Amino acid sequence: MITHIVGNRPQFIKLAPLYHALERAGYEQNIIHSGQHYDENMSDVFFDELGIPAPYVNLQAGGGSHAQMTAKAMVGLERELLEKKPDLVVLYGDTNTTMAGALVTAKLCIPTVHVEAGPRLHCKENPEECNRIVTDHLSDILFCPDELSMKNLQAEGLYAKAYLTGDIMYDTYLEISDKAAGSEPAEEVVVMTWHRQENTSSRKRMESILRLVECLGEKVICPLHPRTRKCLVEYGLWERAKAIDNFEMIEPVGYVEMVTLMQRAKLILTDSGGVSKESSYAGAKCLFMMDVEVWEDLVEIDWIHKVNPESETSLKEALIFAKKAVRIPREERPRFYGDGHAADKMVQALREKNFL
Ligand code: UD1
Ligand code: UDP
Repeated sequence: MITHIVGNRPQFIKLAPLYHALERAGYEQNIIHSGQHYDENMSDVFFDELGIPAPYVNLQAGGGSHAQMTAKAMVGLERELLEKKPDLVVLYGDTNTTMAGALVTAKLCIPTVHVEAGPRLHCKENPEECNRIVTDHLSDILFCPDELSMKNLQAEGLYAKAYLTGDIMYDTYLEISDKAAGSEPAEEVVVMTWHRQENTSSRKRMESILRLVECLGEKVICPLHPRTRKCLVEYGLWERAKAIDNFEMIEPVGYVEMVTLMQRAKLILTDSGGVSKESSYAGAKCLFMMDVEVWEDLVEIDWIHKVNPESETSLKEALIFAKKAVRIPREERPRFYGDGHAADKMVQALREKNFL
């Protein structure tokens, strides 16, 4: 039995291709949902759209502080894994759910795979960085989305268990992008996502991001993460945000709609690791609202431009970048993250290494 542990929106998107590849190869699988994301549009919609079977259990570990959430997930995971005794566990990405899984499987001595191993922001203040480091060190086999991730793992002495498979999110993107392609040419827009702790935990920071949106002048469509909505309300910025003429905040969308939006984007404004990488699949350049190392290959070719919305100079540079942004045709898009067959490569590596 192979058990997949997931709990957050980007993890459902990463799970789909590997679940299906293992299914095609005839392996028995089940899914544990930590419950970290729980709204219908943050969770169920992805299972429906991506054809993933329902998890057999939901640990209801969402909400609360990092420690509360991680601890709750760990207790539930330990109980389930002791009872079901899987032969292999698969973890995805860099969330509290991922790290909870890594700690529990390591202590129960269950062989563990980490999908999307190796990215590093080189910034320990970032909560996801802590989750990544712990998970990479404790897992038994590491699947990397790009060469840089392989190098990061080499620097940490983890190269022997690392494999370059390419980005599994690209598998999902390719699968869905044909379905999402609209027949009607739609108006081009700026697509925005905004949810990082670093960008939502101070009023000043949130205000500066709203100012950036306003200065862009073009229509900005933002499927708003529930965390960001709550913080805007808490800081008394909700009415201010709604009053920005060119800013359209909508509910979080399913993946088909998200891809449709990205395919209409002339520019993507985001603080999401996943979305900043997907910008290169969708053909829209990216303004990235975090001062950390992210997908450095895309930064180097000026596909991703980092902006600090609190700095006037950085804001001005970002507006120049935004003005020049146009949709990039498919054949001119960079290809740093594999060929869209990461899941098949993972199954092959797991077989070769006798994990299956
Ligand atoms: C988490 C991950 C982050 C990932 C993101 C994907 C960690 C540390 N962070 O951040 O790496 O990029 O998921 O989106 O694991 N909430 C709801 N409904 C939901 C989910 C969340 O209302 O369905 C609200 C809750 O108030 C919650 C807050 O959002 O406390 C933050 O959620 P949480 O899962 O802690 O962090 P994310 O920002 O979603
Ligand atoms: N996404 C989505 N609907 C939304 C916002 C994002 O389907 O309303 C997708 C997005 O295209 C990407 C993934 O969710 O595939 C990224 O998730 P998120 O930004 O929450 O997490 P991160 O990548 O920052 O970990």
